[in-house]
Amino acid sequence: MAATFATAGLLLFNAVSASAIYSSKHTNGYCKQLDIPVFATSESAIYDVPRVDSNIDAIAWAIYADTWSTPAGAARIIKNTTTSDTFNIHAQLCVPKTAGKKNDILHIATHGVHYDSRYWDPELDREKQSYVEATLRAGYSILTYDRLGVGKSDKPDAYDVVQAPLELEILRHLTLMARNGTLYSFAEKAKPANAAFNKVAKPASKVIHVGHSFGSFLTSAFIAKHSSLSDGAIVTGYLTSKYLGKAGMASFNAQFAPTSSTPFDRPSGYVVCQKSGIQTIFFAGNPKTAFTKEMLDYGDAIKQPVPIGEFSSAYRIIGLPGPDFKGPIQYMLPEFDFYICAGDCKGIYDLEELKKTYPKAADIEVAIQPNTGHAFTLHNNATAGYQVTYDFLAKNGL
Ligand SMILES: *[C@@H]1O[C@H](CO)[C@@H](O)[C@H](O)[C@H]1NC(C)=O
Ligand SMILES: *[C@@H]1O[C@H](CO)[C@@H](O)[C@H](O)[C@H]1NC(C)=O
Ligand SMILES: *[C@@H]1O[C@H](CO)[C@@H](O)[C@H](O)[C@H]1NC(C)=O
Repeated sequence: MAATFATAGLLLFNAVSASAIYSSKHTNGYCKQLDIPVFATSESAIYDVPRVDSNIDAIAWAIYADTWSTPAGAARIIKNTTTSDTFNIHAQLCVPKTAGKKNDILHIATHGVHYDSRYWDPELDREKQSYVEATLRAGYSILTYDRLGVGKSDKPDAYDVVQAPLELEILRHLTLMARNGTLYSFAEKAKPANAAFNKVAKPASKVIHVGHSFGSFLTSAFIAKHSSLSDGAIVTGYLTSKYLGKAGMASFNAQFAPTSSTPFDRPSGYVVCQKSGIQTIFFAGNPKTAFTKEMLDYGDAIKQPVPIGEFSSAYRIIGLPGPDFKGPIQYMLPEFDFYICAGDCKGIYDLEELKKTYPKAADIEVAIQPNTGHAFTLHNNATAGYQVTYDFLAKNGL
């Protein structure tokens, strides 16, 4: 008997370790990990922002940023500058296993602050939560990437370099690479070689831009400024209203990344949420049914420090009008989003206002994903929400 138990234990152990080793495998697609050198030039600025070099500085910065009399937007600029450099951007390009009608339609998904690209592809339970897996299952290709300053991408100066307009330029170059085919030739050559990937991968004829939170600021600005480079937009966890950001930076419960309770190797000006901040911003709904303890633990385990220059420069990309964008736009809002909707997204949007922002858009829809908080990929029922998105795209010929 003892031997039988031991054998069973060993089998279980093997199964667990095998799944850990192959965790980068996807059921519905072939994926390649890429490190893409992106040359970008953009307007930038030196902002009047307190330095953050300790945990005490981190809270002081949040209070300064939230204080009503702190100068906002351009009033904080000390000097206008230009940033121009080549940055390493870590990305994952996935193509569906079965080549169908949609594998030349590429989703480019941009994550928000406090996370990296794993937000779209949580390993906790890919079948039930991964937007990447669900998108491949629906037959599309998908590119996810770590924005500048997080994950496996470069982490330059938090104050003067990692700023919103530069990130918009990086997204533009990634989109151009997808459209002109260089992304695919780069991916085909990337190690390890994968013949199956090369067989299915084909240059994007259409690109759908998908965002979450700060990634949705970028997505919205992208379709406004570079309208002809996008065929459709899915804007999740973001909508402009009087409630946007009402919770304030103090709600992050931030610490300086190197001295935080889960230390990260980062330079001055990178701040990271404590677990309580992760819950406050990202998890909501009925705590018995909306998410599990494992989802919250995982949401904390994959958190990333944020370079604070993103916040001082965000105003430059928020609320830009998109008079020329012709594709469909879906807003996918978590019902109880605390940071974006002050805890309740129902009834706070004005469809007519959205239509004025994008007067030529083929279709504009606002969908609410019930019983979820801001990080809705990490809540129960996530895949049912993704299906609402695919249905919207299909209705619009995508
Ligand atoms: C920076 O540029 C903006 C926009 O061109 C301008 O309004 C602002 O006055 C400039 N600020 C400084 C300090 O030069
Ligand atoms: C494709 O776009 C990238 C990014 O803008 C650019 O660097 C590259 O030169 C372009 N390649 C071709 C063949 O057009
Ligand atoms: C799951 O999400 C779908 C799509 O939004 C929704 O119709 C359904 O009511 C949700 N189920 C629960 C239990 O919240």
